[in-house]
Amino acid sequence: MQNSLALLDTEIILKYLGVESNYFILNIFDSIESTNTFLIDFFKSNKVSNKSSLIHVAVAEAQTKGRGRNGRSWLSGFGESLTFSINWNFKEFPPSQLSSLSLVIGIALIRVLKSLSIEHIYLKWPNDVLFNHHKLAGVLIELRSGMEKGCNAVIGIGINFNLSNVTRANIAAKTTDLFQMTGKLFDRNLVLSALLIELKKVISDFEKFGFHYFKSEWLGYHAYEGKRICLKKPNHQIMGIVDGVDDDGALFLLTDSGRQIFNVGDVSLREEN
Ligand code: BTN
Repeated sequence: MQNSLALLDTEIILKYLGVESNYFILNIFDSIESTNTFLIDFFKSNKVSNKSSLIHVAVAEAQTKGRGRNGRSWLSGFGESLTFSINWNFKEFPPSQLSSLSLVIGIALIRVLKSLSIEHIYLKWPNDVLFNHHKLAGVLIELRSGMEKGCNAVIGIGINFNLSNVTRANIAAKTTDLFQMTGKLFDRNLVLSALLIELKKVISDFEKFGFHYFKSEWLGYHAYEGKRICLKKPNHQIMGIVDGVDDDGALFLLTDSGRQIFNVGDVSLREEN
């Protein structure tokens, strides 16, 4: 915990990572368009191999064009959030087998936040972290298939730490941050290093055992299990009662036309429930 903003610092992060630091290559930016875009361009440039087992990390104090899911923007001012991306080279899985990855990343977020005594946090399918129905964190995964059977994933995470009134006013969705939730200023260097270690662990386990291994834990964190929700798709919306997820992380809804399964869509709670 700290009294004022501590900037992101490579040496401090490496110290917190300890022996695990050998697995990561850190790139810290004061300001960048988007940490996801940075890593995507970095590997596209072909100057580096994405086949190595080293995990590249891009983390920024500010993003000028932070991106969210479904073409939305991700807004945050300098030092107000933890905004970072990592790459992961999946040797065996093509993109079609990675639909549940985003749910597994949500598990890493919840585990780390809970380890810091941050309670009453839940996951909205597929991976938003919610506190009291307000969004604390989001995940954007972008996949690029290679020539062979695997694929390269860029996994971007944004966690709100202490949003200014200006940033808040510009965000349409119901949003919260760690300071608002707890009255405490958390150390982003510490949270980042804990997340990097946990992400490496959960993604390795996901590669070995699949989503099935995580399913009951994920359902334990599921914000809207058994609740009536609205699932918005690009051209229409479906009402239904949430009835779990399958082994690929797709969402089951009990609708007027029976039990249906969905791979994409934006979930919102129906207030009458
Ligand atoms: C969402 O909830 O819509 C996903 C938000 C993802 C935001 C993070 S911040 C770091 C990384 N860089 C981006 O441009 N987006 C992700």
